[in-house]
Amino acid sequence: MAGDRENFSSRLAVIMALAGSAIGLGNIWRFPYMVGKHGGGAFIIIYIVCSLLVSLPVFFSEVVLGKYTRRGALGAVRKVAPKWSWAGYMGIIASFVITSYYSVVGGWSLDYFVRSIFGGFKGLSFEASAGIFASMSASGWETLVCFFVFLLLTAIIVAVGVDKGIGNFSKVMMPLLFLMIVLIVIKSMSLPGAKQGLEYLMKPDFSKLDGPGIAAALGQSFFSLSLGVGCVLTYSSYMKENEKIVPTGLWTALFDTFFALLAGFAVMPAVFSVEGMEPGAGPSLVFETLPVIFSRMGTVVPIIFFFAVLIAALSSSISMYEVVVAWLVDEKHISRKKAVPLVFVAAAVLGAVCAVAPKVFSACDFATSNIFMTLGAFVFSIVVGWIMPEEAVRSTFSNRIYPFVRFLIKWVAPVAIAAIAVTNLL
Ligand code: PFF
Repeated sequence: MAGDRENFSSRLAVIMALAGSAIGLGNIWRFPYMVGKHGGGAFIIIYIVCSLLVSLPVFFSEVVLGKYTRRGALGAVRKVAPKWSWAGYMGIIASFVITSYYSVVGGWSLDYFVRSIFGGFKGLSFEASAGIFASMSASGWETLVCFFVFLLLTAIIVAVGVDKGIGNFSKVMMPLLFLMIVLIVIKSMSLPGAKQGLEYLMKPDFSKLDGPGIAAALGQSFFSLSLGVGCVLTYSSYMKENEKIVPTGLWTALFDTFFALLAGFAVMPAVFSVEGMEPGAGPSLVFETLPVIFSRMGTVVPIIFFFAVLIAALSSSISMYEVVVAWLVDEKHISRKKAVPLVFVAAAVLGAVCAVAPKVFSACDFATSNIFMTLGAFVFSIVVGWIMPEEAVRSTFSNRIYPFVRFLIKWVAPVAIAAIAVTNLL
């Protein structure tokens, strides 16, 4: 079996696929808002520190597990530490749940992209925009149709295969995504609110950076780098033997953080260009406020923006979908062509429930991003730091950096995750 396993054909495909997974809705609607709320530049500094000292070691742990075992989330953990297999199952369930609710938002992006093409936002007022969003999220059928189409697009890319589907999609779409967001940044920076928007994002206010702020930085960093659910692990199991994982990890984190900042520069100046406008998080920011502001800049800007949101969402949803497919292929010996429709049906059911029941949607979001991801990240670092044979871990890193990386994986990451989880519970 292992010999037939699919591979990414090039280094570029691996990095673009990992970056595609990382860059998503989390960068566009969560990061800019969190930065503003938790002390601007101060939050960014803590975010970068958390990413380097905690998230990157967890990232490396997942890569080591995937690359060493050449199995998906469950098979990898079971091979190295059978007692911790539950964490593999948890990752698969979490990925499945995220795929379902994330695709609902993916469906909204698709809906807004199509609307923007047909000039649906021309002369839009804030009241009308709020009305469109309310009626879209309330009117079952429109949300459902867009959700199904989005999920279908995800399924098609995954069905085409690891390299031809996911790899090729990422290699073409990621550079395009960067280009699109840069264009929006340029447009946004020319608005009268640019200075205020930048201040909101960058001005460091250390007084706002408390325990919950630090926990939020770590949580955001995990979500943004797709950690703790076996996604990085699964993609890494398709890496070639000689892939250098440290630069790959650093590039992914760098792209992800850079894109999050760019998204902030695209979004915040636009929000502050309107008198009395306060940035809100999540759906209201992207689907109520921004269509109005971007539509004032002409017909093309909303089209580019919503296409960018759509691509960012798609490149992430394929990575979660793949975690579940890899489990069916590796462990249940089902072919990819059969596994993809199976996952589609199951995700369509849960996603449809999320699409019409906001409480289920929020519960899925909360459970996965606050509990499953943190616990999964903790287990992956414990398994690699304490249980896996040391030679296997050592062989993946150069001698020079190995002691440092090992210390981070073995001590810093699990202790920091546990400390922050406990602080959060108290
Ligand atoms: N990293 C994605 C984002 O920032 O939107 C979200 C995500 C992707 C979470 C893949 C989990 C995952 F497995």
